[in-house]
Amino acid sequence: MNEKKAHTDHPINALLAERWSPYGFEERPVATDDLRSLFEAARWAPSSYNEQPWSFFVATKADPEAFRRLLSCLVEANQEWAKAAPVLVLSVVSRRFSRNGRENRAAVHDLGLAAANLVVEATSRGLHVHQMIGIVPEKARETFQIPEHFEAWTAMAIGYRGDPAKLPEGLKDRDLAPRSRKSLRQFVFAGPWGDPSPLARKDEDSASAPAGFSNPTHSMWDSFQWLNSPANWQIEGEKLSIDVSPNTDFWRKTHYGFIRDSGHFFYVKASGDFVAQVRVRGDYAALYDQGGLMLRASDEHWMKCGIEYVDGTQQASVVVTNDYSDWSVRPLRMNPKEVWFRVKWQESSLEVFWSPDGSDFAMLRTAYLKSSPGLDVGVMSAAPQGPGFHIAFSEFRLNRADS
Ligand SMILES: Cc1cc2nc3c(=O)[nH]c(=O)nc-3n(C[C@H](O)[C@H](O)[C@H](O)COP(=O)(O)O)c2cc1C
Repeated sequence: MNEKKAHTDHPINALLAERWSPYGFEERPVATDDLRSLFEAARWAPSSYNEQPWSFFVATKADPEAFRRLLSCLVEANQEWAKAAPVLVLSVVSRRFSRNGRENRAAVHDLGLAAANLVVEATSRGLHVHQMIGIVPEKARETFQIPEHFEAWTAMAIGYRGDPAKLPEGLKDRDLAPRSRKSLRQFVFAGPWGDPSPLARKDEDSASAPAGFSNPTHSMWDSFQWLNSPANWQIEGEKLSIDVSPNTDFWRKTHYGFIRDSGHFFYVKASGDFVAQVRVRGDYAALYDQGGLMLRASDEHWMKCGIEYVDGTQQASVVVTNDYSDWSVRPLRMNPKEVWFRVKWQESSLEVFWSPDGSDFAMLRTAYLKSSPGLDVGVMSAAPQGPGFHIAFSEFRLNRADS
């Protein structure tokens, strides 16, 4: 029944795997007893000092005026779809301890725990919950006369999942899209920061492979993490698609004087000598729209190579930065639909190649990069001047230099 069920890497409780946040809801009302149980579940959530800093306003379609009132406290984009749900909830938090008025740093955390209890209870009853940060807190304060020191924080739409086919185009896709998550190694660390805990390493990352070497037979993006994550990105099989955000760039000092370290970089840690390669297809439109490969030892020592769009022409471009950025370009006047870039890293030297077809590679640059053992390697994209653009990376490969 639930094709949105999480495909987990390790076994988890079925209720957690089945939970997801739909945009489409059926009209079917939720029984009052079910609603009582949802709030009872929230009631028994743990909280710091047992403060229970949460409060909830609830409105059902049985009382259209109350429902309209609560709906009006959501941002418009959320009202669009949440109006179909039979139940809306507004969650309020007190961020001060009731006994001494001091700041309760755990309050929002505890509201989240109460919401999680409610969501799991709902899932066990065949219900779905879609939580929202998109509310208008001041509107909520006025509408519900929320006292000082209490804040409307989030909202929830609760009901039975609806038929996605009945949703408008943009939302339909979201309800049909497969669900994705970071891998454990992206957020379970042993230290230092970013170094995956051994328990997060998958069996296939055997001791013989240097850290970060992806096995092309597995979902290659599994072990990647973001520097400057874009608002919208998606992984479908081998393909990583990104809506590159505006005002993003990587540059240091030379010529322009400024330092920019705001581009998107999706990377893994690599050690030893290696060859990295990727296929790039971008809808470059504005000056300096760019995307390709990046190697990074630190924010002062890095290399990016890829397409950079200059005056209507794609440039196979390499920027080597050892504190100061140093840019070289080679125009690709045919503006190819896609290109391949390859970087070979050997003992602090790098060689950059490009190819129009993924098999015939021509050299673009040899350079030195000051590095410590271990580098971050992955795909970068940036839109320094334009409104942003779409780019897709596929066939990312990371292999030992000698293989
Ligand atoms: C605290 C919180 C706030 C959220 N705010 C919004 C929101 O304002 N609008 C929205 O459409 N979805 C919102 N979501 C839903 C998330 O986008 C969703 O949980 C996430 O994409 C993961 O999808 P899944 O819940 O189906 O696994 C929110 C979720 C949480 C937990």
